[in-house]
Amino acid sequence: MSSFRSVVRAVGGYLPEKIVTNEDLEKLVDTSDSWIEERTGIKERRIAAEGELTSNLGLKAARQALERAGMDATEIDLIILATSTPDNTFPATAVTIQAELGITSGAAFDLQAVCSGFVFAMTTADQYIRTGQAKNVLVIGAETFSRILDWEDRTTCVLFGDGAGAVILSSVPEDGPELGMEDSKTKRGIIASRLRSDGRYRDKLYVDGGPSSTQTTGFLRMHGREVFRHAVTNISDVIEETLETANLSIDDIDWFVPHQANERILVGTAKKIGLPFEKVIMTVARHGNTSAASIPLALNEAHEAGKIKPGDMVLLEAMGGGFTWGAVLVKW
Ligand code: UT7
Repeated sequence: MSSFRSVVRAVGGYLPEKIVTNEDLEKLVDTSDSWIEERTGIKERRIAAEGELTSNLGLKAARQALERAGMDATEIDLIILATSTPDNTFPATAVTIQAELGITSGAAFDLQAVCSGFVFAMTTADQYIRTGQAKNVLVIGAETFSRILDWEDRTTCVLFGDGAGAVILSSVPEDGPELGMEDSKTKRGIIASRLRSDGRYRDKLYVDGGPSSTQTTGFLRMHGREVFRHAVTNISDVIEETLETANLSIDDIDWFVPHQANERILVGTAKKIGLPFEKVIMTVARHGNTSAASIPLALNEAHEAGKIKPGDMVLLEAMGGGFTWGAVLVKW
C-alpha cells in the first residue's frame, strides 16, 4: 500500500468583533482585573454577537485558509470540525460549513474532545490522509463557549472566549519530492501525534446538561484546581512520548503552540519540558480560553506575525474535559 504525509497548506482564523475586558466582567460578577490576570494571564476575550453561530465563525476561518491556499472549496474532500458548542445537537455543524462552502462531495463530521478537540481532529485527519482516504482535509476548531457559560459563576465565566481557526492539510506521497526541502532532516508534514483520555476525571470539567440527561443545554462546570493539578504533568508526559516516537528532542522544536487555557500552565509546561519561553506562542491574554479554537487561532496569529515558516518544527498540545489530552508534531 502506498503511503502519504499530511502537509499544512494554509491556516486561517476568525475572532468575533465584540471585546469583553476584565473590567467589563467586574461589573457582572465579584471579580477583579488583577485576580483574572494574576491567576490566568487573561486580559480580554471575544464574544460572538447574538445570532452569530459556531458555524459562522468556522466558515470565516475556513474561507481565509482556502483563500491563502489558493484552493477552490470543491477540492476539499473531508471536513473535521472540532467543537463542543455545535449550532444544534444534530446535524453536525461541519455539514453546515460544508454546504455554505458549496461542497457536495466527500464527508464532513464534528469531533468532540473539548479543549483537546483540535489535536484530536488533526490526528484523525492525518490518519485519513496517511491511508489514502482523503486528499485535502479542512480541520477546523470553532467554539461559542459564551453560550454555555453561567454568567453568574465567577470561577468559570472569566476564563473563556469565542473564536475559530482552520488548517488545510494536503496529501503528498511519503517518498515524493518535497518543495525544495529534500536536504532537511525530516520531510514536511505531521511527523507524530499521541492522544490520551481518562474518563475517571469526567466530572472535573463538564457541562451539566444534555439531550439524553436533562434535555437542556446546560452550563459549563469546572473544578479548576483539580484540572490545573493534572495539566502540566499530563501535557509534559504526552509531549515526551510524541518526541520519542519521532526520535526528536525538545531542542529540535522551533515553535511551541499550546492550548491557551492559562498562562501559568503554559509557563509551567515550558519549564518542565525545558523549552525556552521565546519559542512559546501565547494568545491567552487577548483570546481567553477558546477551547478547540485556541490552537488554530494561535497558529494563525503566529503565521500572520511571520513567526512560523515552512520547514519549522512545530509542537501542538492540549488538555481538556474528559480528561482528554494529546500532542501533535508538525514540520510546517
Ligand atoms: O481548557 C481546559 C482546561 N482548563 C484549565 O486548564 C483550567 C485549569 N485551572 C485553572 O486555570 C485555575 O485553577 C483557575 C484559573 C480556574 C483558578 O485558579 P486557582 O489559582 O486554581 O484558584 P482557585 O480555584 O483555587 O480559587 C482561589 C480563590 C477562591 O477563593 P477562596 O476559596 O480561596 O476564598 C475562589 O473563590 O479565588 C476565588 N476566585 C475568584 N476570585 C475573584 C475564583 N474565581 C474568581 C474570580 N475572581 N473570577
